[in-house]
Amino acid sequence: LLGCTGVGMSGWHIDGTFRSEPYSHSIYHMVSVAKSGGDTMFIPLTEVVESFSPEQREFLDHVWMLSDRRNHLCHPLIYLHPLTGRPTMCFHQGMTSGFVRDYDPTSGKLDLLNEEENKSVISAIQSAIESATVYSHKWLETGDFILSDNLAVGHRAGSIPSSVETAGLRILHRVTVAGKTSPCKNVLQKQECCY
Ligand SMILES: [Fe+2]
Repeated sequence: LLGCTGVGMSGWHIDGTFRSEPYSHSIYHMVSVAKSGGDTMFIPLTEVVESFSPEQREFLDHVWMLSDRRNHLCHPLIYLHPLTGRPTMCFHQGMTSGFVRDYDPTSGKLDLLNEEENKSVISAIQSAIESATVYSHKWLETGDFILSDNLAVGHRAGSIPSSVETAGLRILHRVTVAGKTSPCKNVLQKQECCY
């Protein structure tokens, strides 16, 4: 068997948070559609960010996510989309080892949030997502495809695919487009580190 199974089941995320420049776009192409199950869900991240209360935003604006993969890269949780300039999020609910306060990329020093602070970050994100507009895509035909702005739209696997025996084989190909920018914390940093 080639490929990966159970992809995207670990929670809401964008693709490529383990890279210094997360993927700019993700392309999904349905190669074999199951008779039932296997939806993919999408969520607009600016809406999520803008739904934080002023107190939450004040706190979260100082928070960076620490990837649990490869080089344990640190990205600002909330930053400005490199093309639109609108606030968006760099996050992965299933591939984050913790959160850091006011990370300084030049020193690399990690001021890790304590357990209670970590919980409040996770809870704030989850609550905001639950109140945001979710688009759940039902894959209907082989050949269907979606092109997503990976930096503006979060996603996750939705309903659990039915068993191969009852629903047939579900095969979804994904192509990612290499990102050109590292998430930047503010406009000043954007000028320094983007493009
Ligand atoms: Fe993904």
